[in-house]
Amino acid sequence: MEIIEEINRLRKEKHAVILAHNYQLPEIQDISDFLGDSLELSRKAASTDADVIVFCGVHFMAETAKILSPLKTVILPDLRSGCPLANMVTVQDIKKLRSENPDASVVCYINTSAEVKAECDICCTSSNAVDVVNSLPSNTIVFLPDRNLGNYVSKHTSKKIRLWRIWDGFCPTHENLKAEDVLQLKKQYPDARFVAHPECTEDVLKLADKVTSTSGIIKYVKDEPAKNFIIGTETAILHRLKKENPDKNLIPASRQMFCQNMKYNNLESLYESLLNMEPEIEVPKKIRDKAFLTIDKMLKIGRKD
Ligand code: 13P
Repeated sequence: MEIIEEINRLRKEKHAVILAHNYQLPEIQDISDFLGDSLELSRKAASTDADVIVFCGVHFMAETAKILSPLKTVILPDLRSGCPLANMVTVQDIKKLRSENPDASVVCYINTSAEVKAECDICCTSSNAVDVVNSLPSNTIVFLPDRNLGNYVSKHTSKKIRLWRIWDGFCPTHENLKAEDVLQLKKQYPDARFVAHPECTEDVLKLADKVTSTSGIIKYVKDEPAKNFIIGTETAILHRLKKENPDKNLIPASRQMFCQNMKYNNLESLYESLLNMEPEIEVPKKIRDKAFLTIDKMLKIGRKD
């Protein structure tokens, strides 16, 4: 209790806002000023009038906040909070792809480093990837680094886009969910709705009633008049889902869907980071200016879930 009071005192004193991703620890979700998916958090980071953004998420998310709000102090409570998917593509990979495919537009998932974003044409999140691809004038798209999201987009774009190159990255947490796990649960709960994140594999997504971002999952469960829901994403989202839907039965699709990287931020590290104003996230201006354009183009595209 005392630590929560201290965090509340410090956030007021430092004029700080605490942004948290839907996969954070329950106690971090509960103390946050704003809880959301990657796109919502980017929009919040761009529009907040706070002096300090404490970003409870993973590194690329805090970096995105810094790129969008360069004059603010951006803090990530624990620097171990990385994203394995974001580490699966490098600047050298993009340069090679560009030289091999000079006519293509390069779309990167927001789960990439600032350096990679700086080399791409536009970025996207799980909630707007199809809209982003559809917004491009080019018919030839390089989509990276998530092969599952890229594959999903290629099947749902209304434009005749040849998604001829899908980068071979993946989220280890989402790849832990197997179609057999879902089929077993569907047998147990035949009337359940299955909602999945697009980072899941194609055979899992084929079984889904709805494929959407983490906040899209929150909205779907709230709006659908069903009782039982199988949740195909990282299990920490269950905290918010249960809180907001006490009358619904929410079933994790697999207990293996656990992301340790999202759990390094805790009340202690949040308190320490507010007290000491570190670890601070910095992005060199040269990279920031280019990466800003990549993200800003995306933010100008409307959201549909
Ligand atoms: P969302 O944008 O759907 O919140 O997803 C972020 C993420 O990293 C999923 O693994």
